[in-house]
Amino acid sequence: MDHIPREFISLLLDKVDLVDLISARLPIKKKSANNFFACCPFHNEKTPSFSVNQAKQFYYCFGCGEHGNAIDFLMKYDHLGFVETIETLARQVGLEVPRTQHQEDKQDTTAPLYAITAEAAAFYQAQLKKSPRAIDYLKQRGLSGTIAKQFGLGYAPAQWEQLLQQFGDTAQNKQKLLQAGLTIKKEDGGYYDRFRDRIMFPIHDRRGRIIGFGGRIIDQGEPKYLNSPETPIFQKGQELYGLYQSLQANRKLNRLLVVEGYMDVIALFQHGINYAVATLGTATTPHHLHQLLRYTNEIIFCFDGDEAGRRAAWRAFEVVLPMMHDELQIKFMFLPEGDDPDTLVAREGKERFEEQLSKALTFTNFFFHHQLQQADLSSMDGRARFTAQALVYIKQLAPGVLQEMLLDELAKKARITAEQLKQQTGHTQSVSAKRIANGRQIKSQTTTPLRLALILLVQHPELAHHISEPLPELSLPAYPFFIKLIEICRQHPHLTTGGLLEFWREQKEEKLLAKLASWELVIPETGVKEEFLGAIRGLTRSAHDQVIQRMLAKAAQQGLSDEEKSQLTQLIADK
Ligand code: CTP
Ligand code: MN
Repeated sequence: MDHIPREFISLLLDKVDLVDLISARLPIKKKSANNFFACCPFHNEKTPSFSVNQAKQFYYCFGCGEHGNAIDFLMKYDHLGFVETIETLARQVGLEVPRTQHQEDKQDTTAPLYAITAEAAAFYQAQLKKSPRAIDYLKQRGLSGTIAKQFGLGYAPAQWEQLLQQFGDTAQNKQKLLQAGLTIKKEDGGYYDRFRDRIMFPIHDRRGRIIGFGGRIIDQGEPKYLNSPETPIFQKGQELYGLYQSLQANRKLNRLLVVEGYMDVIALFQHGINYAVATLGTATTPHHLHQLLRYTNEIIFCFDGDEAGRRAAWRAFEVVLPMMHDELQIKFMFLPEGDDPDTLVAREGKERFEEQLSKALTFTNFFFHHQLQQADLSSMDGRARFTAQALVYIKQLAPGVLQEMLLDELAKKARITAEQLKQQTGHTQSVSAKRIANGRQIKSQTTTPLRLALILLVQHPELAHHISEPLPELSLPAYPFFIKLIEICRQHPHLTTGGLLEFWREQKEEKLLAKLASWELVIPETGVKEEFLGAIRGLTRSAHDQVIQRMLAKAAQQGLSDEEKSQLTQLIADK
């Protein structure tokens, strides 16, 4: 993406209007001069929490946290790649995307990988038909031919160079196989097939492209599963096995069940529960959750009933917590010891399995259940500890009905009044009024000057032009980033927030920027410039302090020259 000239992207973002772009796709209502609201297209909700700011050219959902500029919106809403998005936007405003050599190279890197994984999947599928042993195994696991086909199951023959011979005719194709993770390079420079004598589970992305494989050994052996390594088209922490099939099977997903294994997903589908996904041998990540919330607002996590299952459930809880809101239903189901969803659904059938699902622990119940496991409510001390512990989590929730409910429940359990508790959370009666701010409001006096300056600059890039004095030298972690932001804002006089963010696409500061951009400030628009200049003065003061500290330290260690001494006196006097 670096290969589309940056100036072109800035120009494009200048010409496109985010509000036009979104209102062509969603009903959107004007709330104030620059602010529009809609029901979020990226998660299910009934009351609008998706805000679009025209001046900033930035959108943010207070519910699920999705955010970005026009490019992000189109990428997510229309499921387009970056280059495709740029092309679409350019067409809309009648611009031609300047093509560079480099960009064509880039485009070529992933397309051949998708092609080779698709070919490999077809090859494995054909091999399955020829392997009675593999077919028997699947039958013995209770899978029908139809379901095997629906999931594209295959078989990798017990040979070292099958794929290699089939598709690795040229050096270039050998390279593709390697890059797609289908072969492994030998010390001496040759290659061999990664998957041998295994049942093959192709892993699809949302759009149905095959991005990797899981390979299960037939019967016993180690390792039971072998998975594709991370490749340019496959990132484990982001993908969900079965999501593609769930989307295919349901026009609208009322809920999604998250299980652990490939076989669980397939067995559930076979028994008519066609809304199951599995993480790929990893714990649930925020990324997974984001994906899921795009399609449904009810998620049921399914775990083993043992200690490990409980721990995994709590980890999932911690991932959900920051994204939790009133419209979301999150449940936790624990399986009987010795069962996994595969065996349970096979034994009990769809109806009884779904009955169990409906008895899953709610978010609230699971939370207290877990907290109470280590609590001692018989003593006052124990109750105080329990309360403090629980509050750590409850405070992380956005103010709203759910938080209220948890607080009430906590009060009941800890035998104190709800009022006492609410004081502790800094919680007042008019919660709903604050809900939209998602607990992120800050007042200028409660933050550091650098943070405030960062927030204001990102939200009002034009402020960069109001700094008349040279910026101080300051050693703080985020300061070089601030300087860089100022520089870019100065170089681009009409930059919006959305435009500014574009400079950091896919870079490590991207997240921080989004947070700064969506921070709710309680500063009236008219006071923004003053606050910003005030923050800059604060930075200058901090720089002064740093110099003083350094000189004092030096004085203590090695003494100061006369010149330094008078400089120090002056600095302290200035303060
Ligand atoms: N897994 C893995 N590597 C392993 C073991 C497990 O990647 N060596 C991942 C796989 O995604 C697997 C999931 O963890 O599907 C759950 O593991 P497990 O419950 O052991 O496998 P099942 O899917 O239940 O497979 P089976 O029923 O065939 O034993
Ligand atoms: Mn299993």
